[in-house]
Amino acid sequence: KTLDDVSDLNGKTALVRVDFNVPVEDGRITDDTRLRVALPTIKKLLDKGAKVALLAHFDRPKGKVVPAMSLAFVAPALSALLGEEVAFAECLDQRYEGAARVVLYENVRFHPGEEANDAGFAKQLAALGDIYVNDAFSAAHRAHASTEGVAHLIPAYAGESMRRELTALDKALGNPERPTLGIVGGSKVSTKLDLLKNLVGSLDALAIGGGMANTFLYAQGHDVGGSLCEKDLKDTALEILREAETKGCKIMLPLDIVVAQEFKANAPHRTQSLNAPLSAEDKIFDAGPLTVEALTTVMEGSKTLIWNGPLGVFELPPFDAATVAAAKFAASQTKSGKLVAVAGGGDTVAALNHAGVADDMTFVSTAGGAFLEWMEGKVLPGVAALEA
Ligand code: 3PG
Repeated sequence: KTLDDVSDLNGKTALVRVDFNVPVEDGRITDDTRLRVALPTIKKLLDKGAKVALLAHFDRPKGKVVPAMSLAFVAPALSALLGEEVAFAECLDQRYEGAARVVLYENVRFHPGEEANDAGFAKQLAALGDIYVNDAFSAAHRAHASTEGVAHLIPAYAGESMRRELTALDKALGNPERPTLGIVGGSKVSTKLDLLKNLVGSLDALAIGGGMANTFLYAQGHDVGGSLCEKDLKDTALEILREAETKGCKIMLPLDIVVAQEFKANAPHRTQSLNAPLSAEDKIFDAGPLTVEALTTVMEGSKTLIWNGPLGVFELPPFDAATVAAAKFAASQTKSGKLVAVAGGGDTVAALNHAGVADDMTFVSTAGGAFLEWMEGKVLPGVAALEA
């Protein structure tokens, strides 16, 4: 159920789970995307006459009151974006009765009952509202009291951001237009095993890049020099390649590589074929132009792209070249209506922002871990609770 299924909320309070786990440096929010994506739900509920009580977590205080992890700093930032007062309430054991129409409660993870999904704590939270709205897709992989338990206790709805995430994800992996292409990058195969296994079973093509590609190249007998490589996962990598072949998923690994010895921007580097020799000091930092060309050719023939993880060390130019070129090509295909491109998880958003094309994708998820678990084909408890 979505907010379109609720009509009159006059005199009612909507308890809304949002994800305000925002990046902060020196007390300043460096990216307020997660605040901005919560605005449509808050505004819609206010328009329907409701008061809005916001529940969120910040960082991992592990059930203890950690003043440095207070959510108090978010209330004024949200208030500025919303254009109306957002009160802040420390106590979660009583409803806020002040004049503001919107209140943000203190970090729900200050209470041990939150992560334990304790029934008594969920009941306490449920008493804060008349209906529950989950607008935190990015926390939906956690079966916590505020994301799961409370949904069973009062009428529960998906908020606008949650609905947009689920619709986009369904378009990308649940029910996509084919051919489908995945790009998975990042440093380690070990963190993305379930994801790779799930994707080779459902996509038409999968490009593997970043440090994790080295493990696959090594498994195929290529020299990877001193590159990041999980040699103990050789058999697993070969198994994934075999599985892909059986399931008809074309795996694309780097065809050429950009190699350097120092981990720093503009380090001396060279581009070479996979068969050219590497010394023990040489490290693969990016995929080369032949790889990008092969990838964009497949992308051109694809209708749907799902992207998680950069293709190289994109933080250090020029080792951002493959990621930037692929991102720009995806953006141009999307803008001309030829491709549905959905991206998310960890570094991906930063990489697309770096390429200057995050806004040109069909959808960029605000989620990290939840996006990965969804790509692994897992049921997200926060979503399942809304469907129950
Ligand atoms: C996130 O930032 O990905 C979510 O807020 C979840 O945070 P967590 O990994 O601490 O549960």
